[in-house]
Amino acid sequence: MILKVEEILTLAELEGLAESCMSPMAMAYVTGAAADEITLRANCEDWKRIRLMPKCLVDVSEIDLRTNILGQEFAMPIMLAPAAFHRLCHAEGELATAAGANQGGAGMVLSSFSTVSVEEIGAALEQPLWFQLYAQEDRSLTQEMIQRAHAAGCKAVCLTVDTPVLGARHREVRTRFQLPADFKLPNLKLGPISHRPVRGAIYSDLLNPRLNWKDVEWIASVADVPVLLKGVMNPEDALRAADSGVAGLIISNHGGRNLDTLPSTAEALPRIAEKLGGRLPLLVDGGIRRGTDVLKAIALGAQAVLVGRPYLYALSIAGAEGVARVLEILRTEFMMAMALTGRRSIAEIDKTVLF
Ligand code: FNR
Ligand code: LAC
Repeated sequence: MILKVEEILTLAELEGLAESCMSPMAMAYVTGAAADEITLRANCEDWKRIRLMPKCLVDVSEIDLRTNILGQEFAMPIMLAPAAFHRLCHAEGELATAAGANQGGAGMVLSSFSTVSVEEIGAALEQPLWFQLYAQEDRSLTQEMIQRAHAAGCKAVCLTVDTPVLGARHREVRTRFQLPADFKLPNLKLGPISHRPVRGAIYSDLLNPRLNWKDVEWIASVADVPVLLKGVMNPEDALRAADSGVAGLIISNHGGRNLDTLPSTAEALPRIAEKLGGRLPLLVDGGIRRGTDVLKAIALGAQAVLVGRPYLYALSIAGAEGVARVLEILRTEFMMAMALTGRRSIAEIDKTVLF
């Protein structure tokens, strides 16, 4: 390894460090987004654009990051976002990620397309585990995935609703993305096929372009755990979700990987929060790179944030230690931001922390 993990000081430097730790194809997969990558950049830039308003002379000698989401206790409001194929980043794949989440004290959302089974991760993770669901066209397969996840210890299902097809991912095409032959996707009853389009130029064998609101209602009715919709950006959809039996929403544009020129999640979150008026708990992901970003997301109505690419880079650089380091940096920066704005608990973070 090129450096000690303590020498990594910011999430921003991880992408550059990861370049020499992953194949060009893996790097393209993780870094890339759709089309001109405008939404990807906006996700990062728009949190930074928001200005904070401090409150002075508050005794901040104790800061409490604990929070309760859907009745579940979290050590802090920061989770690892679901991402496919962790073995592209590290030989131990999601097992190394889970070890990093344990060390860093963060919950983890496991992708349907993980390269280690949900049972193995359920056994390894000491933090809250949620399962990201790519619902299959065959409902019995979908139901089986939900039941397996529940039996493995997952405490919620995050149904991804923003990916009936992929976006125009030029980096994946240029590097001829292909799953390595020895990869398995043990949560699926399919061979090791990739997410890339194979039919009619846009349709993937792993994705379900027919997914609709009836399926959402059905999934919410058969799941024994709360179901969140991941990938909601439209306030009208958020309102409809509140009547469909789901327990929460993850405001997300899939890290800019599908439809380019969508608004950033920093733009979308407050509009959805306003429309819903507290009817559903909200989480958000996309471009979270600083503790101040976490503070702003909570001020704008999120109960927690998820972080994606940075932990995947760190996984490739230093395995579990790298993932833990990302969480440590974010936690420390978030605590500094709370102390410097005079907030001692998550409940004390509201809109008045924004300028
Ligand atoms: C993802 N994301 C994702 N989402 C999902 O619901 N299921 C998945 O399998 C994946 N896979 C995936 C792979 C990779 C390499 C990336 C980078 C992302 C999207 C992810 O959960 C999250 O929405 C974004 O990554 C958040 O944005 P940032 O933090 O990467 O900017
Ligand atoms: C991705 C899919 C698989 O973003 O969610 O690559």
